Amino acid sequence: MEKMQNTVCVFGLSYGDEGKGKITDYLAQNSDIVVRFNGGNNAGHTINANGIKYKFKLMPSGAVLEKEVVIANGVVIDPKVLLDEIEILKKLNKKINLKISSTAHVIFPFHIKLDGLQEDKKGKYKAGTTKRGIGPTYSDKAARWGIRVFDLIRPELLKIKLYNLYNVKKNLINVYDPDWDIDVSQIYDDYVEYGKILKPYVIDTAYYLNKAIDSGKKVVFEGAQGNLLCIDHGLYPHGTSSNANALGISGGTGVPPKKIGKIIGIIKAYTSRVGEGKLTTELFDDTATQIREQGHEYGTVTGRPRRVGWIDLFSLKYGIMINGVDKIVITLLDALEGINPIKMCVGYTHNGKELDSWPIHPEVIEECNPIYEEFEGWESRTSEEWSKIASKGYEALPKTMKIYLDAIKEKLQTEIAIISIGPDRNDTIDLGTLLWGEYSE
Ligand code: GDP
Ligand code: IMO
Ligand code: MG
Repeated sequence: MEKMQNTVCVFGLSYGDEGKGKITDYLAQNSDIVVRFNGGNNAGHTINANGIKYKFKLMPSGAVLEKEVVIANGVVIDPKVLLDEIEILKKLNKKINLKISSTAHVIFPFHIKLDGLQEDKKGKYKAGTTKRGIGPTYSDKAARWGIRVFDLIRPELLKIKLYNLYNVKKNLINVYDPDWDIDVSQIYDDYVEYGKILKPYVIDTAYYLNKAIDSGKKVVFEGAQGNLLCIDHGLYPHGTSSNANALGISGGTGVPPKKIGKIIGIIKAYTSRVGEGKLTTELFDDTATQIREQGHEYGTVTGRPRRVGWIDLFSLKYGIMINGVDKIVITLLDALEGINPIKMCVGYTHNGKELDSWPIHPEVIEECNPIYEEFEGWESRTSEEWSKIASKGYEALPKTMKIYLDAIKEKLQTEIAIISIGPDRNDTIDLGTLLWGEYSE
């Protein structure tokens, strides 16, 4: 029997910050539930709507539209950060329809401390982490002494598990920093308090989501980070500690792969990267400065200036294969204004030979050179002019931009669903090809 389902995944195909927040919010207009399934407050998702700028680290972007939002089991939660975001939304008189998985893992201050200390020992293999405790918390999850939301809301369980974990972590931290200590009873008191406030939101989100999907609700899965930061399929060890792509959905939610409809990969019109690791198409000249300024490329979480480079279709093609991408969304086209020519990386050479598969190992990437094609750019415009173009639709785009978009579509062999030419929700051109995803049973 054929059964229609309405689920869609939005995730980044590069190194994060592709505009997932903006596009998730855009799609949320036509959805019921938005779900975060990976990462934690290393993410920073920006939404601009009705003159207000929202920056979420943990809260799914559907919260702006007061949709049901779910923080599923694959996310690692710093409760203090989440409570701050809840407070911000309350101050804006937003109704909060939040569900938190009881099996999501919890970040503690010693994870944050360890994140910094361990990075310092990694030399050239450091990732330039956001120092939010993400890696150490996922490590504890895998080592099976992590503390979950279920424990957070049960003080008696929290006490046993926290004191045990504190002893382990103190010994480890003291290897790097012999004088370090922290008042564990204070952490316990603080976290008991966080647990009390969060308890009403805690449920079994796997049951909740499966039921919702089966009853025909429209669900957006909102990825954090991006494919090239994925722990398994990204640039290890320069990436993050979760499956930062569509592959993270089932493990991170308990929604089976066959219930996931359309897979939408987001790409920028160029490449940006915070943190370490070779960026094959990186720019270091005035063009880099121009793109960084025009795209406001400063980290949402850490404020670090983002490294920028030309679009890298070779790595995007790899991500499309790994994730089974149905359609792509292209953002920040306006940020390339006034740049001429615009380069597009269509492959890499290694030892003088063109590669036929994207080299997953940073040591090989270091030795690669990009193969470029050049495209004529488009003129600068004011943000009001870009908004006006967006309101008119695809035909109103500059001719040279359409040629650039056609080339991306052809070379990636993937349809474009949405084009974004400004930060606002309305600076969006929907090509109408993103029919909500169905799956058959
Ligand atoms: P995310 O992590 O993928 O959600 O992306 P971020 O929010 O960290 O970074 C994307 C930035 O680009 C944010 O400041 C957005 O407001 C902004 N943005 C998104 N789409 C566009 C666009 O098409 N044009 C411009 N100029 N800015 C955009
Ligand atoms: P969003 O969801 C960009 C990068 C960090 C670092 C590496 C590991 O906003 O796109 P971590 O703190 O996860 O251990 O850091 O991953 N990184 C991101 N870069 N956007 C993000 O999230 C990122 N989350 C992590 O800079 O290189
Ligand atoms: Mg971001």
